[in-house]
Parts: sequence; C-alpha cells; structure tokens
Amino acid sequence: MTVHTDIDRATIDRGTPERTAAQSVTLEIDGISVTVPAGTSVMRASSLAGIQVPKLCATDSLEAFGSCRLCLVEIAGRKGTPASCTTPAENGMKVFTQTDRIAKLRRGVMELYISDHPLDCLTCAANGDCELQDMAGAVGLREVRYGYDGENHLNQKKDESNPYFTFDPSKCIVCSRCVRACEEVQGTFALTIDERGFASHVSAGMNEDFLDSECVSCGACVQACPTATLMEKTVIQHGTPERSVITTCAYCGVGCTFEAELQGDRVVRMTPYKDGKANHGHSCVKGRFAWGYATHKERITKPMIRKSITDPWREVSWDEAIAYTASEFKRIQQKYGIGSIGGITSSRCTNEEVYVMQKMIRAAFGNNNVDTCARVCHSPTGYGLKTAFGTSAGTQDFDSVDQADVVMVIGANPTDAHPVFASRMKRRLREGAKLIVIDPRQIDLVRMPHVEASYYLPLKPGTNVAMINALAHVIVTEGLMDEEFAAKNCDAAEVKAWREFVSRPECSPEATEGVTGVSAKDVRAAARLYATGGNGAIYYGLGVTEHSQGSTMVMGMANLAMATGNLGREGVGVNPLRGQNNVQGSCDMGSFPHEYTGYRHISEEGPRKLFEKDWGVTLDPEPGLRIPNMFDSAIDGTFKGLYVQGEDIAQSDPNTHHVTSGLSAMECIVVHDLFLNETAAYAHVFLPGASFLEKDGTFTNAERRIGRVRKAIPPMCGMAEWEVTMKLSAALGYPMHYNHPSEIMDEIARLTPTFAGVSYDKLDELGSVQWPCNEKAPEGTPVMHIGGFARGKGKFVLTEYVPTDERTGPRFPLLLTTGRILSQYNVGAQTRRTANNVWHDEDILEIHPHDAENRGIREGDRVALVSRAGDTSMRAHITDRVQPGVVYTTFHHPESGANVITTDYSDWATNCPEYKVTAVEVRLTNRESRWQEDYAELQKLQRIETVAAE
Ligand code: SF4
Ligand code: SF4
Ligand code: SF4
Ligand code: FES
Repeated sequence: MTVHTDIDRATIDRGTPERTAAQSVTLEIDGISVTVPAGTSVMRASSLAGIQVPKLCATDSLEAFGSCRLCLVEIAGRKGTPASCTTPAENGMKVFTQTDRIAKLRRGVMELYISDHPLDCLTCAANGDCELQDMAGAVGLREVRYGYDGENHLNQKKDESNPYFTFDPSKCIVCSRCVRACEEVQGTFALTIDERGFASHVSAGMNEDFLDSECVSCGACVQACPTATLMEKTVIQHGTPERSVITTCAYCGVGCTFEAELQGDRVVRMTPYKDGKANHGHSCVKGRFAWGYATHKERITKPMIRKSITDPWREVSWDEAIAYTASEFKRIQQKYGIGSIGGITSSRCTNEEVYVMQKMIRAAFGNNNVDTCARVCHSPTGYGLKTAFGTSAGTQDFDSVDQADVVMVIGANPTDAHPVFASRMKRRLREGAKLIVIDPRQIDLVRMPHVEASYYLPLKPGTNVAMINALAHVIVTEGLMDEEFAAKNCDAAEVKAWREFVSRPECSPEATEGVTGVSAKDVRAAARLYATGGNGAIYYGLGVTEHSQGSTMVMGMANLAMATGNLGREGVGVNPLRGQNNVQGSCDMGSFPHEYTGYRHISEEGPRKLFEKDWGVTLDPEPGLRIPNMFDSAIDGTFKGLYVQGEDIAQSDPNTHHVTSGLSAMECIVVHDLFLNETAAYAHVFLPGASFLEKDGTFTNAERRIGRVRKAIPPMCGMAEWEVTMKLSAALGYPMHYNHPSEIMDEIARLTPTFAGVSYDKLDELGSVQWPCNEKAPEGTPVMHIGGFARGKGKFVLTEYVPTDERTGPRFPLLLTTGRILSQYNVGAQTRRTANNVWHDEDILEIHPHDAENRGIREGDRVALVSRAGDTSMRAHITDRVQPGVVYTTFHHPESGANVITTDYSDWATNCPEYKVTAVEVRLTNRESRWQEDYAELQKLQRIETVAAE
C-alpha cells in the first residue's frame, strides 16, 4: 500500500469523506490489497491504494452523491458497473478500475458533458485548475461525436453580483457539489438544483442573484466547484496561483488554517486548509475573501511623528521614530515617575509579539503597566475559569461538539461571530443534538433551515446570573445532579454550600421570572434537558463576560457543568467563543498587569525570580495599571505616556468621552498599527505595523490551539512588530536578542510550564498543538480536566445575583445591547477596507415594533440614541428579533459612536466593561449628534496631512 505524507493527505482529494469505524475491511483493487475502515467507499479505498478513479460529482469534503457516473468500476462477481463513490468497500472484494468497458463508458459520459461546455479552455480562468479538463484528459477523450450545435446552455448570463466570486452557468455541469457544500459544510441551504432534466440548473435562493439570496459568502461552493462556474474574481483577474504558504486567519478566535496562494508577492486566493484542525477546510467570508485590507491604499508604511496632535504628521526614518519615542518616554519617567508610562498589547498580534511587548514594559519601562484588549472582552473568562477549574481557558477542542447531545449557547452569536465553528455546531444539531439558546436577542441559531432551538430563553440584558442560578435551582431541587462526579472531583463543603444556596426559593425559576422575563416553565424544561439529555456542552461569548457580573456568570456556568458532570470528556465542557484571533494567546503571554506568562501572579516569588534570572533585571512585584485605570490616572495627571499596539481604544473602549479625555491628557502616545485609526488622532508617534500576511509567529485560538502564522509577503513597512519592540527596548536601555520569532517561542517554552513542549519544529510537524503541551502531554491537550481538575478539586463558588447599577427609568427606559455582524469585524479597521461593506456599510439600531410605534419611528428613520454617558444617532431597523424594551446595535463604524453611549460600569473582578447593558432612550431626529459633528471635524483635521520624509 502506498504511504502518503501529511502534505499529500491535505492535497489529494480522495473523493469521499474519511470513515473512522473500529472494524476494517480488506479488499483488492487492480491487484493491490488495501485495508480500510468499514464504511469507506471503493473510491476512497482506491485512492488510499494509490489509484485515483476519475470523478466529477465526488469530493472528499462531501458525502457521495453518485450523479456523474464517471467513477464506474467493475467488481468481480457483480453485475454492471457500480459507481465507486457510492459503493462501500467490503471484505474480499476484487475491484477493477481500468477495463476497456469502463474506459468506453467514461468517455461517453465525458462526451456528453463536453458537448454542452464552452471550448474556451485556453482563455478560461480555471485553465490548469479545472477538474473537468483533468477528467477529459484522464478518460482519454479525443472527440465529441455529438457535435456542439445542439441545444445547449452556452449563452447563459453570468451572475457577478457577489463582490468576491462569479457564477457562470454556461460552464456548469450540474454536479451539485456547490449545493451539497452549502448544505453539508456551511449549513446555509442557499442553493438548489431547480427544474429537471435538460432544464436543471443551480439556483441561489428563489432564482435570485447570489447577493440577494440567503448566501453568506463563505465560499464553500466556490471551493467545491470542479469547473470555472463558481470562481474567485481575484483568480479571474490575476490568474491561477503559483505558490502557497500555510498560515492562520487573523480575524476571529476560531483560528482557521489557510493556504495563502500567491503569484510572486501578490495574494490571489486564500483557500481554507483541509488539514487545518480548527476548520477542516472550511472558512467564512472574512478569512477567505476579506484580506484586501492588507494592501489597502490607506496602509501607513512609514513611521511618523509630531510634537502636538494639532501638528501635521512628519514622515521619519525608523531610527528617528524609535529614538524620539525612547527620549519622550525617558523624559516623562524622569518628570512624572517610573509608573507614568505603560503599554497595551494586542490580541491581533502574534504570541511572540505580545511576549516581547510585555517583556519590554516590565523590564525596560520598569513597571507592570501592561494590559491587553482582552480586558474589554474575555478577562472574566480568565478569572472565572481559573477560579473554578484552575486554568484560564476553555475546556474542549472544537471537534468535541461532534459528541455533544445538548448544546447550550449563552450570550454568543456563533453564526455571525464564529461562523466556521457555527457550521460545525449546526451539523451536529442537524444530526439530532438539542439546542438551548439564552440571549436577549433572537440570534439566527434559534430558527434557521434544519435547526431549531428546543428552548429559547430571551432574558433581559443584565440578568444572566439570575438565569444561571434558576437553572441550577432546578437541577439541584429536582435531584438531577451528578452526585458521583461532584463527590469525586469537588470539595464536599463547597458543594454543600452551593447546593444550599441555589436551593433557596429566591433562586427558583418562579422567583426569578420577574427579573429575567423568561417563563419559569421554559427555564425548568431547559434545565432538565441540559442535565439529563446526555453530553451537555456550554458555549458562550461576550454576552456573558461584558457585564458587571461577568466573572460571576462564568463561575455560575462552571458550577452548572460540575453539578451535572459535564466536564472532563468529549462533548461537554464550558467553552468561551473568543473574539479576536489571538485573545487567548495575548492573555497566555502575560499581558495582564498582575500576571506573567501562564497566568502566574507577579507577587509570587517563585515565578518572579525565574523571570528576573532569565531576563537579568529586577522586576516590580506590584501589579500595574489596568486600561481603565490608565485613563483615570491620565486625567489625574499621573500617567503621561502610552504605547498602544494593534488596538483602537478610542473606538473600542466604553464611554468614549472618558477615553478621549484620558488620551488628550497624555504627553506621548505611540500607536503601532496598520492604519491611522481613531486612537491615532491623539497620537504623537505612529509606527506602521505588519499584517498577518507579512509576519512569522503563532496565534492561539479559542480551543488553546497554537497555530503557525507564516510570512507570505515581506512586511510593507520593512519590520515586524517584534523587531520594532526590540529596537525600542534597546533604545530604552534594555536590549533583547532574537533573530527569529522561533527563538522568542523557545524562551516562552523555557519560562512557561504549560508551553514547555512547544517549539516551531513541533508546530511544523503536527500542524498545531493545544496547550498544556509539556512532558505530561507532549502532543498537547485537546480536552482539559480529564480525571480531575487542573487546580485539584473543582471549586463551586456562590453566585449571588446582584443587579447592575445601570438601571432603566423614565429618562432612559430601554436597554441597549451590542454585538457583531458576520461581514464586519470589531472596530472594522480591516473589514471596512474591503468589499464586505456591501453587506453592512453602517451600524443600524434594531428596535421592537412596539417601542418604535410608541415613538413614531418608521423603518429607516434616523433616531437619536441617548444614554447617561452621551448621545449619537443612527438609522432604525424595526424587528421583533429584539424584545420590547431592548434595542441592539453593532459597533463596526466609528462615526456611529456606539461607545459614546456605553458607560463606565464594569465587571467587579476584572473591570471588563459592561458593554451589554446600557439604559437609553431613542427618539426621532433629523440630524447627527453633537459628538458626531465634532468627530467629523476631527476626521477632517486628521485626514492625513503629512510632510513626506526627505
Ligand atoms: S458562498 Fe457559502 S453560503 Fe453562499 S451559496 Fe456558496 S456555500 Fe452557500
Ligand atoms: S456550479 Fe459548479 S459545483 Fe455547482 S453544479 Fe455547477 S459545476 Fe457543479
Ligand atoms: S471563522 Fe474566524 S478564523 Fe475562520 S475564516 Fe472566519 S474569521 Fe477567519
Ligand atoms: S464521482 Fe461517483 S458518480 Fe460522480
């Protein structure tokens, strides 16, 4: 049997999906003996034996369909010529893939296809990358006896409506691969084969354009299409790629692996990598198509400085920019003290970049004023899961969802924010797993094609903890706890205290109904389902963490999982869906003011001595400032210098007025980014950054998976971020010595027990690993806490519900909650600079029909959105996806000022802002708010007035 390498595995299309049955069968194909798992198709078995049977409608990402009849084989003792893609391999079978009879039949099939196909191979964009062309060659087609003059489809009109791909029906062979990809891989069901026989054709929606249909532009159909019918516009424009680099998507925390396909230094296509362990060859519109920002004309590629933020920018050399920054930071520290400067690391940067940044702050700045944008999203996850289980991370890998029987989604919107994982989850739900959704807004998952939640609990914003206590109350008082699990794995006294606490009448669904707004009956039914429905898996997002009780809620979910024994195996767990590509990594890398890498507290002498010895410095044992404290201290006049890497705090942080007051009070702000973002309007130094396509390093996704980011093109600004940090650190008097990011990872591994086994060699060998990766788990840890918790006994914490101080009242009677949309990403700095704007070019306020009617608001009206913190305006969309009393918007466009509205309230444990609950009023208006007018003025001033370098 032929032995195939890993690269072969990823590139050879074996025609039908892998089977993993425990039993195997042995058969003979063209005289070669091959053993495969039971259920494997003859086509796949042939491929594993090194024989590629011709095929058109089959591909190994989809179940066999058996429509094209090109893959016919003969089997000893059987009549006819069965299709190898739909015939399972059996013990003792003798298969013949190349006989005269089969060859003739295959040529006949190909003749029919080609007689109704344009003969423009030489000028076709898919020339050399077309399976139809390949198959014509493979079957030895030399002539088409039917001629080309009969009735045909050659004059069909192209659909160019999608900004990223073209649909040219004249080239379609109606193999249905696109339809099946949309159903099986993506789970959107946007395509059908309409009509029958000769008239049959692929139809998006109800014979609509792709753009107007349900299509979400994931590109799975484009990837599955064996012809040039569905084709990336970049490939049509620039031609087929000539080389590829395997790397990791820089958008969300799913962390999809891609092949960046290039011609020279131009990316022409991003293809999700089949062996990518987070995505298994799938992607969403952002990763696959929205990479054009990397070469957008607004990229700043030269360092710039200015004395005052009202001066024009002056382009300077890297040396001058670094020297100026170092002299300013030194001046500030001399004048205001060692703690007067700090830095913010980025969850968009690599682990290695984050590591050297926090090292520079601790060792060269000489303080612990380092924080990360995870402060404003998942810091409660770190705190809550570490408290409960001993590890600041999710418990499972994504594949675990395949074993889940009950999926509980709380405060997350996977189809928009984590689309590739959502497709996986939807597939499991279509297979029969049950779904519970807890969210103030009716997310798509609640009801979509072939998926419907068993229970949707539309709670009021800010009442998560009351809800989790009510679910726990039912589980405890109805005797649904997994007593054995709790007794074995948790502290008996803590279990007892928690049991008594949640059993109290005030925690019951009936008592909390008035708080959460959800019927007690539904809460009871959902609790029973989670506790008794088999493997129960919780997935959650920022709708949990971004609350004044964010950490409490994380611990509440951990309690629920421990009480039901839903931990320590596949199909269960407590799983944060992380927002940014490297938010897990930026936390792991010691970005918080109180922790070194691996979440070790800086006040503990052991870890501190370890770092002091390795780094050759004395380190401050006192935690430094968190991001909100940096703004407060700036306004107080004690914090004067800030280095912000890859984060736009002026747009993303809550209470914009407060943030910009803090920024305006500082004397030296350094922004290190791709574009002149909103924060850059307050900056004195701009250091150009490198996009993910331009750097080497690693990202860590939501399942603790460390994946390689590989340089596909050289950095447009000449330097990667870690090199810039090294230069600045040296200019401040603390030189670091790395020649390549792999050396930074070696240092991380040396100093961090959970990373001890990680190296670039291992990542290259295995593709990716999930930490902990060390002597105990040399190939990483897909599922945590098997056989016991990382902290020893799992900790039950009492989670008393404390209502947020942000209250509705006569002036502000509605609650605003916020979220993301599929096509845009966070502050939009990347996606707004792509064609994704076609789907979402402004932020819109969703409002319930009753609330709209009470205020005389009609669809599309401009409305003022006012809170205690500020006011803005946007257009209204009337929908019953939000409940009465709740309004919702996204925050992708700076001019909509969503964070002008949000308040300073934050999680009690971590200061994660309470973005998800703001009391507001909405009223009709015909003008922009004062803040929006000021913002427009500031933008005019900032619109890059630059003095070019000599
Ligand atoms: S791009 Fe994705 S969602 Fe759209 S039709 Fe193709 S597979 Fe379906
Ligand atoms: S568009 Fe492509 S994948 Fe879809 S039926 Fe036509 S040839 Fe097959
Ligand atoms: S799901 Fe996330 S990581 Fe995957 S392609 Fe989309 S944005 Fe990128
Ligand atoms: S590949 Fe088997 S019938 Fe099409």
